[in-house]
Amino acid sequence: MTEQSKIPLPASGPSLIERASGTFDFRTLTRPVVPDLPPAPMPKVTAAPAPVMAPEPVAKAAPPVRQFTGERHPIDRSHLREQCLIEPESGVTGLLEEFRIVKRQLLRTAADERVKHGERILVASAHPGEGKTFCAVNLALSMAAEKDTEVLLVDADFAKPSVLSTLGLPGGKGLMDALADPAIAVEDCILGTDIAGLYVLPAGNATGSDTEYLASARTEEVLARLTADAPNRVVIFDSPPVLAASPASVLANHVGQTVMVVRADMTGEAALRDAVGLLSACEDIKLLLNGTRFSTTGRRFGTYYGYKE
Ligand SMILES: Nc1ncnc2c1ncn2[C@@H]1O[C@H](COP(=O)(O)OP(=O)(O)O)[C@@H](O)[C@H]1O
Ligand SMILES: [Mg+2]
Repeated sequence: MTEQSKIPLPASGPSLIERASGTFDFRTLTRPVVPDLPPAPMPKVTAAPAPVMAPEPVAKAAPPVRQFTGERHPIDRSHLREQCLIEPESGVTGLLEEFRIVKRQLLRTAADERVKHGERILVASAHPGEGKTFCAVNLALSMAAEKDTEVLLVDADFAKPSVLSTLGLPGGKGLMDALADPAIAVEDCILGTDIAGLYVLPAGNATGSDTEYLASARTEEVLARLTADAPNRVVIFDSPPVLAASPASVLANHVGQTVMVVRADMTGEAALRDAVGLLSACEDIKLLLNGTRFSTTGRRFGTYYGYKE
């Protein structure tokens, strides 16, 4: 992901991570970006008992169920632009193109029935300030633009939630409230937006026992309701920093994919290894290099459509 601010180019040389990429094989840390899954096992063929009645005609696949009926809140497009976020309905930009590439790989895994909960994606990083919220919000905006996918963006940084302020949404009850109080239905906490297919679940009130609530059996029950009857829904979790807050490693138990944001010139190799180790409950961890200022291969997305040079 390229740096979107107008920070001048560095006077010399590639970034720390870019220098490291020549000598350090990130594949030793994680699975490759496109997971090399073994072929699905052939189903066992056994003789079926003779049907007593004629089988029912196969029902046509039902369209995705849009259960979230909460109020739709407007999202200020200029506020998105000011934060260098993807602006729906605007033209093709380099940022949009970069997230198109990232989301395609995630959606492929989300649709793969062999991956357990591939539709749940954790966006994590080792430390604060490395771009988790930036990437989670941009991914959600990019995925919501898909014609047949809807997205629920969950603010899971319970101690320092920032998704609502980033999108300019009003505060309200959220995931932690629903985990802590069985009387609160998680569906009732979800905010609609005026961006088609984009929903947001706030973090809710931090409890002091967030990690314990997340580790409880109720969490799986609550998370399952977020995608019940909605096979085309993807849930993106904006994680707390892995090396600064314990909920991240517990969340890794519940997701099928993790996007590990690595900020160029900021994230060190030891921190990255440590963080990836703490998230090892998730079998599919993909690295996303954020904040690069140049491309060694000449990638310059966004300059082709309309020849904006
Ligand atoms: N690629 C990028 N281009 C421009 N600004 C970025 C980029 N990545 C992150 N930022 C900015 O850096 C700051 C920290 O990012 P944030 O997503 O809040 O980090 P985190 O959620 O990991 O704490 C924010 O102001 C964000 O807008
Ligand atoms: Mg954040």
